[in-house]
Amino acid sequence: MQATDWVIFGGTGDLSIRKLMPALYRCEGEGRMVDGSRVLATSRGNVSQDDFVAKVKAGLQKFLTAGEFDEAIWTAFAARLTIVNVDLSDIDSWSEMTETLTSSRANPVYYLAIPPSLFGGVCATLSTLGLVSEAARVIVEKPLGYDRESAEAINGEIGRYFTESQVYRIDHYLGKESVQNLLALRFANRMFENIWDANSIDHVQITLAESVGVESRGGFYDSAGAMRDMVQNHLLQLLCLVAMDPPNALDADSVRSEKIKVLRSLRKITDADIAKHTVRAQYVDGEVGGKSVDSYVGDLGHPSRTETFVAIRAFVDNWRWKGVPFYLRTGKRMNGRYAEMVIQFKPVTHPLFGQEQNNQLVIRLQPEEHIYINLMSKDIASADVKLRPVEFEIDLAAECNAPVADAYKRLMLDAMAGNGTLFVHRDEVDHAWRWADPIIAGWKKNLASLSYYAAGSNGPEAAERLIAEDNRKWHVQD
Ligand code: BG6
Repeated sequence: MQATDWVIFGGTGDLSIRKLMPALYRCEGEGRMVDGSRVLATSRGNVSQDDFVAKVKAGLQKFLTAGEFDEAIWTAFAARLTIVNVDLSDIDSWSEMTETLTSSRANPVYYLAIPPSLFGGVCATLSTLGLVSEAARVIVEKPLGYDRESAEAINGEIGRYFTESQVYRIDHYLGKESVQNLLALRFANRMFENIWDANSIDHVQITLAESVGVESRGGFYDSAGAMRDMVQNHLLQLLCLVAMDPPNALDADSVRSEKIKVLRSLRKITDADIAKHTVRAQYVDGEVGGKSVDSYVGDLGHPSRTETFVAIRAFVDNWRWKGVPFYLRTGKRMNGRYAEMVIQFKPVTHPLFGQEQNNQLVIRLQPEEHIYINLMSKDIASADVKLRPVEFEIDLAAECNAPVADAYKRLMLDAMAGNGTLFVHRDEVDHAWRWADPIIAGWKKNLASLSYYAAGSNGPEAAERLIAEDNRKWHVQD
């Protein structure tokens, strides 16, 4: 493989220090950095090379897992680092960047860890300076845009200089091992092939719960809210992987076109149904991990009606999923950090043993990557024919005797290798917004009132009611 020049725009920022540098360091540790590869970080300020290297080192020591930092790997990685001071909006200040990039034969990967308002200008400048070769790639972060129109404008600007196959839109949830494992479970196991539809599945739940609040990102978060931050992208991507038809191959086009079909089939939630199918809520004062924590408004320092929690009853209107509800839920400051997908099967067609418990497949993404399969079995402690639920638990890290890989590292390796399967196509972004926009507009018109929940709780009462109305309950892990 040819060497790569990683150009991180916004290279001294939070995303770069927290996620990107650790991911690249891990590539180094695994010997995946081809000789001659470099990591160039841009900064607006006058940051010296020494200060930059020291900042990256401090970040690695903080954000790598305990014991992961290794001086020998660091020495090799540090040798690749270069800070380039550049005012991105002033083409005349790009000379150092141009010289640095044209002095090498490596393939450039441009990572835009900068506000989307700068994307168009940066891509135009790269093109004007002759830095967009056929081998060049560009990586952008979610959420792409604020609504369908702004996403279209951003994609249009990037698309003027890069072809679709050169654009890698990151949704880091797609890099998580158990998310990819869902594809393996679904499409490499005959036992699931004929039961993965409305005939056998009662409903699906997808929960992404966080115990943290908005941390230092209040400014961004308050204008986005949970819908734009988590639902439009991470939650819908997971829904796509659960609901999609088998692709005919695992390449980017085949997988993405199946996901697009799901997004196109998502039933639009109209004004008349907003209150019935959606819940939006905000956290108030409460307790997390035994400590009192502030409300969202307290964290923010000013009044706000932005939602920090969303629950939605969604439907995929196609042959496979007719009438099967997909309950989606995400929130900040909930009672724990966990993410899971729950596939609830229907009861057997003839209840021979009386009261049946139903089969369930639970795929845990976080905090640990586990798969649980719940079956009914005879209770051998009982002389009668009595049933009891039994659970198979698969611990992926223990099974494979390997730590769970970092999602960013996985995705950056894929981008380096030119594999776009786990990245999001422009049309996926478009269809996800087509579904999300009317809900956000309905909330703006106050068609569903804003509920409240105590920090550290399981979310608002309204979310319990949403699922209880269908005689179902949110899954609770024992
Ligand atoms: C990001 C959101 O995309 O995902 C954050 O912007 C959120 O608000 C984060 O905290 C959650 O990611 P993870 O991998 O920690 O579940």
